[in-house]
Amino acid sequence: MTATAKPPLTIRLCEPRGFCAGVDRAIQIVVLALKKYGAPVYVRHEIVHNRFVVQGLRERGAVFIEELHEIPAEHHDRPVVFSAHGVPKSVPEDAQARNLFYLDATCPLVSKVHKQAMRHQRQGRHVVLVGHAGHPEVIGTMGQLPEGAVSLIETEQDALSFVPPQPGDMGFVTQTTLSVSDTAGIIARLQERFPAIQAPSAESICYATTNRQEAVKETAAGTDLFLIVGAPNSSNSMRLVEVARRAGAKQAMLVQRASEIPWDMMIGGEVVGLSAGASAPQIIVDEIVDAFNQRFAVSVDLAVTAVEDENFPVLSVLRDMPLTAD
Ligand code: F3S
Repeated sequence: MTATAKPPLTIRLCEPRGFCAGVDRAIQIVVLALKKYGAPVYVRHEIVHNRFVVQGLRERGAVFIEELHEIPAEHHDRPVVFSAHGVPKSVPEDAQARNLFYLDATCPLVSKVHKQAMRHQRQGRHVVLVGHAGHPEVIGTMGQLPEGAVSLIETEQDALSFVPPQPGDMGFVTQTTLSVSDTAGIIARLQERFPAIQAPSAESICYATTNRQEAVKETAAGTDLFLIVGAPNSSNSMRLVEVARRAGAKQAMLVQRASEIPWDMMIGGEVVGLSAGASAPQIIVDEIVDAFNQRFAVSVDLAVTAVEDENFPVLSVLRDMPLTAD
């Protein structure tokens, strides 16, 4: 009996994809804290939006909570880590009031947006934040300033109908993980209506968001299916799905594991785009490529659009700890 030849299939694998320097640093902070202080280490909010990562850290002894009051009194000597998305000022204040030892894993690029928002305010400007309501990063950025000092704009329509408290004196910042093109449209509407509005001194959308969107945009035309590895609550992953659709993928979808791929739709001969959001680990990308290899004769075309060498050092209190795989 002769084995049936597998049908061919092409994967266009985007590079850069997956973990950014801020996510990598946040995970390292939890791992190093577990090594240095032992379990349990509390983590406020999902450290990054990926259940695979969260589960892996849970198995090592991390305990995920939403608010600090969930830490039992007998564990007030345990470290608590704040997530990469950043936190409102009230959270470290609350930690101090409870005498908790906290490690802040806020991405340095999110902290930079916080500083830019505070700078606008120091200069007497009303702050406009372009972002998605309810996202932890937006909650954290709004929480750097007193109630009423920041107005949130989510869409071009919001920008058109916005009635500012002080129209002549405003500055904007944005969430770091937005769609580059949608944000440009929102800012253009704001600048048309309020020509004096001040931009931040540096771009708020981060390098990782920009690079991952650019890679998908360059690769999507001609693909039958574009797979983005990521979680539905991951803003940058959701934006990658939108970018793939707009840039010409026949179909684009978010997947968290290989089992979610619509295998029965694929007969062979397809061109499949593949990328991963900034919080999605490479191990899932590998799992997906393996799953394709089991079913098809796969050729992988690596589509490199940028080379990243960003690396954010961990907190100084953890720098003496060796980061090994165990
Ligand atoms: Fe930071 Fe951008 Fe990643 S803000 S956490 S480098 S997606």
